[in-house]
Amino acid sequence: MADRIEVLGFAGSLRKASYNRALLRAAAEHAPEGLHITVFDLDDVPLYNGDVEAAGDPPGVAAFKQAIRAADGVLIATPEYNHGVPGVTKNAVDWASRPASNAALARKPTGIIGASPGITGSARGQSQLRQAFEFTNSYCMPQPELLVFRAHEKFDAEGKLIDQGTADFLRAYLVAFADWVRLLRAGRA
Ligand SMILES: Cc1cc2nc3c(=O)[nH]c(=O)nc-3n(C[C@H](O)[C@H](O)[C@H](O)COP(=O)(O)O)c2cc1C
Repeated sequence: MADRIEVLGFAGSLRKASYNRALLRAAAEHAPEGLHITVFDLDDVPLYNGDVEAAGDPPGVAAFKQAIRAADGVLIATPEYNHGVPGVTKNAVDWASRPASNAALARKPTGIIGASPGITGSARGQSQLRQAFEFTNSYCMPQPELLVFRAHEKFDAEGKLIDQGTADFLRAYLVAFADWVRLLRAGRA
């Protein structure tokens, strides 16, 4: 399909039962026609180290960067840790921001979503992540925002999204994100 949009999604949590991984799976499930989300697992992306990078990207990093380059857009589901971006999310962004002259994230349409058992639904973590995208020159969608608060009530024990309101909002978010990616893709053509 000519209008098909390929999105690379990753969650900033390595936890098997992560709400943010569950949210990404739900996004893949609820994506509108033409939007395809592939979830990338960050298990094999080590902590950023300039010496390691100088010797050549480790396989997990090379695969991550390649997946971003091949995608039309990137969707990140991030938790919030101590009112900020967790290291797992930020570390992945840091690798993908290199080399600065030809970064996989540069001019890439991106979307941020997130989930937390708390009442702010990862708002501060998302907000801080936006700042990083100023430096990487990524095109981060300004609105809508998707803040899944009280996440433990929105997913079942298997990590399936069971809250109708959240599912409806997620679908609306993804329609907006598809439009955002299309808009920027058209601008580049
Ligand atoms: C070190 C640490 C700090 C946390 N800080 C916050 C926080 O600032 N705000 C918040 O809403 N939740 C906070 N939490 C709770 C996380 O939102 C919760 O553990 C969540 O399930 C993590 O996302 P995940 O389920 O995708 O792994 C924190 C958890 C940890 C482990």
